[in-house]
Amino acid sequence: MPTPLLRPWITDDATALRSAVATSPDLVTQLPVDALGDDAACAAFITDHLATPSKYERALAIAVDGEAVGNVAIGAIDRRHGTGWISYWLAASARGRGLAARALVTVAARALDPAGDDLFRLELGHRLNNPSSCAVARRAGFVAEGVERAKLAYGSERFDVETHARLRTDPAPSTAPLEVAAAAW
Ligand SMILES: CC(C)(COP(=O)(O)OP(=O)(O)OC[C@H]1O[C@@H](n2cnc3c(N)ncnc32)[C@H](O)[C@@H]1OP(=O)(O)O)[C@@H](O)C(=O)NCCC(=O)NCCS
Repeated sequence: MPTPLLRPWITDDATALRSAVATSPDLVTQLPVDALGDDAACAAFITDHLATPSKYERALAIAVDGEAVGNVAIGAIDRRHGTGWISYWLAASARGRGLAARALVTVAARALDPAGDDLFRLELGHRLNNPSSCAVARRAGFVAEGVERAKLAYGSERFDVETHARLRTDPAPSTAPLEVAAAAW
């Protein structure tokens, strides 16, 4: 069984990203799928959005056997309030193994660590009709805080969204973290 790993995105992940998009129609909620139809477009997207950490955002690839099969990211980092917004996705072929929850636990631990990113509160939101994302959030210790009505729009439809958050002071979950490549965070 290959060991999953969190590592930086590289442009060589373009084919894996294209494959994930092509085989996972529900990634339309996470990625500009219409603009990711070939390797060149995927490489450019990786360069512009996934492999360029800043003080406001960063993303890591969830890799299995060297292949990028998913993403976990922190965006909207606000140093004044010590907050950040988390997102995650997996290619359909990589689901059902608990990888997203483990990736989320790993990133949250580093983001909330006073010796790491030193944030205090991490937030995420999922559509109410996305129970697997809700389960991922709970497994990673993110407490459900309430529902925001009609927050997101996909196509002509609007969706209620449940917000979850994990505070530095919340109990750490028992979910095992993933390995992180050296200097990835
Ligand atoms: C959300 C996502 C990352 C979860 O993938 P995953 O980590 O492989 O999750 P799993 O398939 O293992 O499901 C997680 C949990 O939800 C449960 N689950 C899955 N489908 C479910 C359903 N229809 N109803 C209730 N529970 C469900 C699973 O049984 C599992 O429970 P467990 O933790 O007790 O074992 C993946 O589905 C995805 O990338 N979806 C598209 C993008 C997305 O929605 N991202 C999140 C945006 S908020």
